[in-house]
Amino acid sequence: MKNKKLYIVMVGLPARGKSTIASKLKENLVKDGTRTRIFNNGNLRRRFTRDDTSYPEFYDPKNIEAAALREKIAIINIERARHYLGNEGQVALLDATNVSLKRRKTVTSLLKNHTLLFLECINNHKDILEASIQRKISLSEFRHMEREAAIQSFKKRIDYYNTIYKPLQDERNFVKLDSLNNQILEEVITGDIPYYERIRDFLVTDTVKNLFLIRHGETYFNLENRIGGDSGLTENGKGQAGKLAGYFKKRKTPVIFTSKKKRTIQTATPIKRLQKDCIVIPLEEFNEIDSGVCECMSYGEIREKMPHVYRERKKDKYNYIYPDGEGYVSMKERVDRGIKKALYLSTNSQNIMIIGHRAVNRMILSHFLYRRKEDVPFIYIPQDKFYHIVATQDKKLFQLKKYEL
Ligand code: F6P
Repeated sequence: MKNKKLYIVMVGLPARGKSTIASKLKENLVKDGTRTRIFNNGNLRRRFTRDDTSYPEFYDPKNIEAAALREKIAIINIERARHYLGNEGQVALLDATNVSLKRRKTVTSLLKNHTLLFLECINNHKDILEASIQRKISLSEFRHMEREAAIQSFKKRIDYYNTIYKPLQDERNFVKLDSLNNQILEEVITGDIPYYERIRDFLVTDTVKNLFLIRHGETYFNLENRIGGDSGLTENGKGQAGKLAGYFKKRKTPVIFTSKKKRTIQTATPIKRLQKDCIVIPLEEFNEIDSGVCECMSYGEIREKMPHVYRERKKDKYNYIYPDGEGYVSMKERVDRGIKKALYLSTNSQNIMIIGHRAVNRMILSHFLYRRKEDVPFIYIPQDKFYHIVATQDKKLFQLKKYEL
């Protein structure tokens, strides 16, 4: 298999996760000793022309001049990929939208010498798309524009691509991937595709290089053993957040996900402050378990005033659902959704941080490390330590670490 060669041609509208998948895939293949290179049209376009190519009409298929330039760039990359596989290369990844039949015909006709696999990335979740666009407009090509104008410009670019978008259908070998959920939606494989077992497994695996899973610092509610609510950090809690900030100062953390609750955002604030480039993204999927009629009560009060709740929960903590609230069992779906969003939005960051809550962090931990359901509600989630999680195709690591220096 070592001397077999493969072209992988990415397909999909802008902001669908193509580049992230391409670069993670490359990293995995390289780790296996497979010589792999990415040929990205966007990067080549930015290097090729000094002219501004960020304005939406540049992507209008009816803009003859711009379309010719884009075609030229695509062909340069196709030729480079061909040259690479003609020499030492084993896998060439063509990273571009490739949404039109015309473009795919060009690719197919120029790359006949080795197996060709099309990989279409699909993701139409509205909020994910919005968040991806926010990240896209931080690229240097949008620096000269106001935020809102840049967002509108990027959306218009997507609309132009949509006018020529033809999903994969008749290609010889293709995979359609739900790029948010790592789920293969359709797979048409005719014949032997080099490296395919490895690639397929990669596509459906949640990979995270370094996930730092932190529980918020101490709150006023914690002092009284009260649950839920939206309490702020105590002085001690702020001190813990400060120590976390010191610990992570030298560990580049470009993105911190929190819940929408004050206590997690307050914990993230000093950490962000000591980072060079860092954004905080609050996700409601990471909000703490909703304890319904018991919100803001202490465990003692629940036992006293609602003994049936206390008793029933004790009997089967995982499956118990608080009246008008949630249980571990019913939180699972939304927490999993939050994890998918976080992984998707953190693109290629080496380090990702999630600052959550006790129950939420138990669910996150059990997403990566299998635990029996009945044990999940008892996983240890302290406030003076955090979990360092690595989950890739080749390595799984879970380490509880102290952050105090
Ligand atoms: O006490 C803090 C807290 O995060 C509460 O808000 C939440 O209801 C609870 O922990 C979850 O832990 P358990 O499921 O063990 O009650």
